[in-house]
Amino acid sequence: MCGIVAGRTSGAVTGTLTEALARLEYRGYDSVGVAVAQGDGTLQVRRTTARVEALVDRLAADPVGGTTGVGHTRWATHGAVTEGNAHPHADCSGRLALVHNGIITNADALRAGLRERGHVVASDVDSEVVVHLVEEALGTGLAAAVEAAVEQLTGTWALAVLDALTGELVAASHGSPLVVAEGPEGVYLASDVAAVAPWIEDFRVLEDGHVVAVGDTTTWRHGGRAAEPPPLRRCTISVAELSRELYADFMSKEIDEQPLVAARVLESWGAPAQDGSLWHGSGLPDFARVAVLGCGTSLNAGRAVAGVLGRVAGVPTQAVVASEADDWVVEPDTLVLAFSQSGETADVLRALDRVEHRGAPVVAVTNSAWSALGRRADFVMSCHAGPEIGVAATKTYTAQVLTGTCLAIAACVGTGRLARSTGRAMVADLGRVPDLVAQSIGVAMQAVPTIAAATSEASGFLFLGRGIARSYADEGALKLKELSYLWAESHASGELKHGPLALVEPGTPVVAVDDGSSRMQASLAEVRARGGDVIDIGGPGSALPALGTTGGIPGIDWCGPLESVMAMQVLARQVAVLRGRDIDKPRNLAKSVTVE
Ligand code: M6R
Repeated sequence: MCGIVAGRTSGAVTGTLTEALARLEYRGYDSVGVAVAQGDGTLQVRRTTARVEALVDRLAADPVGGTTGVGHTRWATHGAVTEGNAHPHADCSGRLALVHNGIITNADALRAGLRERGHVVASDVDSEVVVHLVEEALGTGLAAAVEAAVEQLTGTWALAVLDALTGELVAASHGSPLVVAEGPEGVYLASDVAAVAPWIEDFRVLEDGHVVAVGDTTTWRHGGRAAEPPPLRRCTISVAELSRELYADFMSKEIDEQPLVAARVLESWGAPAQDGSLWHGSGLPDFARVAVLGCGTSLNAGRAVAGVLGRVAGVPTQAVVASEADDWVVEPDTLVLAFSQSGETADVLRALDRVEHRGAPVVAVTNSAWSALGRRADFVMSCHAGPEIGVAATKTYTAQVLTGTCLAIAACVGTGRLARSTGRAMVADLGRVPDLVAQSIGVAMQAVPTIAAATSEASGFLFLGRGIARSYADEGALKLKELSYLWAESHASGELKHGPLALVEPGTPVVAVDDGSSRMQASLAEVRARGGDVIDIGGPGSALPALGTTGGIPGIDWCGPLESVMAMQVLARQVAVLRGRDIDKPRNLAKSVTVE
């Protein structure tokens, strides 16, 4: 949801900015731009509504020197996708350039005031008002001017302002992520540490209210006063993790990484889950019920974990759509499991306000332990998926399901709902997941090209599942629609006859996570009777024989066929490839949705 970067480097900064922007592009790709301070106190700005590669080409044709600059990749919220609305935005004098991620909710009132005071506000975007507010306060120095400007804002922001006259950078954050990091070649600011990971070893995360000034030295302020810097954190992201290597797209690489990710999660959380020690060490109180909270894929992962809690230990559970949580009644003794790979999804953070108001304990199941969610939670379960760059979540989903399942086992053993021996048996079962996942990917790579070729011209798809497998079908449908731009509806198979069957006509593809039950077979017979094209994901003899029994690896009944999801990921990607879609950057989407 917009990515920002800034750098003050020993050599030319544009290459640094564009390289970092390429790694931030997952956050939005409606437009991209850079501004660089020139020795004479002016700015050079390059912006385009094309992608980062186009900006690189433009800079190659029309180079910009300078060692201090800011860059931005945009996911449009306010104002159309035009070059004029692209960041960076300059003040009236052309001395300051600003990049911003977030939403300024009082921008209209501020813009009107600025215009009355004679400012030329050139774009339609909310962000531009901030640079003019900084311009008005500049007499006090850049850091104080940024503080004065942000005091007038409502909404959320991570922003960086460049002063071309002094070469100083000042950044501030409130409700949007921002890190600052120093390496041998310079100092960097970025929305995501992955953007600058190759150049640094440690980083600091700005807390709400921090203002950091990067000049000859780096200084920190908070609440209008000098402040201690936040703690240094170790950056564990390797360059290989950020590279597509020989894969056609990041999504294929990330699909293939899932067996390894699954093994890593189980190595971290399996042992402390099975004996309940994870629960005892967490300091969390006993609970009467569990609510899983999240959006999109993360909510699907939460639903799978809720299904496990209900099935194995009879724990009452509720799945809360974080973007619709305003009327959520948080019942007493609820343990909240908040699922978010990024930990910065605004809808999730807003829903937490409600939870905190009721005093319910929150566990973050996240791939970003230092994120806003991680910092607000009472306990953090890191998902260990590594950086995921494709906008469509794949390996983070698998990691969330397994991490959440380990927590569920730990909670049930730790509170006496399950015997330790049961916990041990369940973790032993999970030990088969990496092989189940690998097998599913292998089978899908063989079978899917033919299935996709036969179905990619369909107008839409139905997905069916039962019990916990319904949440897997939901995830398959979400993957298909976001990648292929075809409609994809997911239903409990028993519901088919109560309405969705009307959608089935000759050739309608119906993907079923086939648990082999007679009820599922009855639903599939109803589809076949109307000429629907059943793509059953099941055991030997099915259209996509990706489930455990196929290769002799026993499936895991109590958590349902998680491995079915990998087959559906491969199917969604292949249909999208045949339809000529941008696999890693589906239209209209961004990976971290930091607006409500
Ligand atoms: O960062 P989060 O997990 O909180 O993001 C929530 C959703 O936006 C996200 O899961 C989205 O549905 C997926 N990227 C779709 O593949």
